[in-house]
Amino acid sequence: MRTLPTAPDLLSHLATVANGPLERATGAHPALYLSEEIASLETDAIFRRDWHCPGLAAEIPNPGDYLTFTIADDPVFCIRDRSGTVRTYANVCRHRMMQLLEGSGCTSRIVCPYHAWTYDLNGRLIGAGHMERTQAFDRKAICLPEIRTEIWNGWIYITLDPDAGPVAESLAPLGEVVARYGMENYVPVVREDHVWNTNWKLLTENFMEGYHLPVAHKATVGAWFPVEKTVFPEGVHDSFTYQTFQKTGNATYGQAHPDNTALEGDWRNTSVLPTVFPAHMYVLAPDHLWYLSLRPRGIGQVDVRFGVALAPEVDAMLGFADERAAWIADLVTFFDHVNTEDRQVVEGIYAGACSSHAAPGPLSWLEREIHDFQKYLSSRLGTGATP
Ligand code: FES
Ligand SMILES: [Fe+2]
Repeated sequence: MRTLPTAPDLLSHLATVANGPLERATGAHPALYLSEEIASLETDAIFRRDWHCPGLAAEIPNPGDYLTFTIADDPVFCIRDRSGTVRTYANVCRHRMMQLLEGSGCTSRIVCPYHAWTYDLNGRLIGAGHMERTQAFDRKAICLPEIRTEIWNGWIYITLDPDAGPVAESLAPLGEVVARYGMENYVPVVREDHVWNTNWKLLTENFMEGYHLPVAHKATVGAWFPVEKTVFPEGVHDSFTYQTFQKTGNATYGQAHPDNTALEGDWRNTSVLPTVFPAHMYVLAPDHLWYLSLRPRGIGQVDVRFGVALAPEVDAMLGFADERAAWIADLVTFFDHVNTEDRQVVEGIYAGACSSHAAPGPLSWLEREIHDFQKYLSSRLGTGATP
């Protein structure tokens, strides 16, 4: 294994590129995607600090509905309590640390699969057998640690950092763009978890540029976007970036349903593609949305959560169960195809980054969001110098 540059050297290169103009920007140093030292800095300065998205609040609509997630390797679960509030708890039993819940589902109480300690939907211990002789045991004092949770335009955001600023504040300028779609009313139809063999930043960067659409996605969505019409936000934001596309008339998905009376003019065939740093990204179209939420799994693997939701008027037109299932199956097959195309390229870039001949090349104006991401990474990771 060749020796990689140190974190301070990599971060110095990153800062130079990030602080320079886009017209002179290049990709990051390949070792930024391979360095254990950088990954460890990312865990502390990014994944334990920023907000992460386990999914849409509408994926857990009823009391007792839950879904599991991890932040910086901390297992957590989001659950809707009896008052209708979405809460997040550490997914770790207070007895002997067993993980309590797996996957997703609905439950009236949380029963540990090891010795059946039982918690209510607010994390309070309500039952534990054979503890009557244990003097140190005080059932009423035991509760699962709660994780900060905010709902923003239908998304669940969670953070381990008690001092992180509110999502509503940091994403306010993005809200002005996306609020017109009413995405909090979109109806979730699919959620899948996958593991891809790449560094999480390469997948994030791939999402952020439409330059590859006519090439890597020529068999699917590539023909639907005149990429030269891509629009980026004015100015650079600390917590997110995005681009907008207008879809052409031949697009199978991406145009407003006739019953959609909220979107007007060009917005009826415009999609917004936000990336909320570090690792939540979605395509918000007038008729559907799909999202990715990433969690690094070491250097060369990433946990990918993929979900799809439909605009309410599209969901309403689907009618009977069989027709609905067939329509959704077609849509999912289509987006699975798009994901497979992306998987091939982001795994291919990771293999390329491992080469001793890898070097950062110049960026196109269509890769402007990668430059935004470099600024974000550079500001969060600092110089990498030991304090
Ligand atoms: S570890 Fe959960 S009940 Fe023992
Ligand atoms: Fe792609």
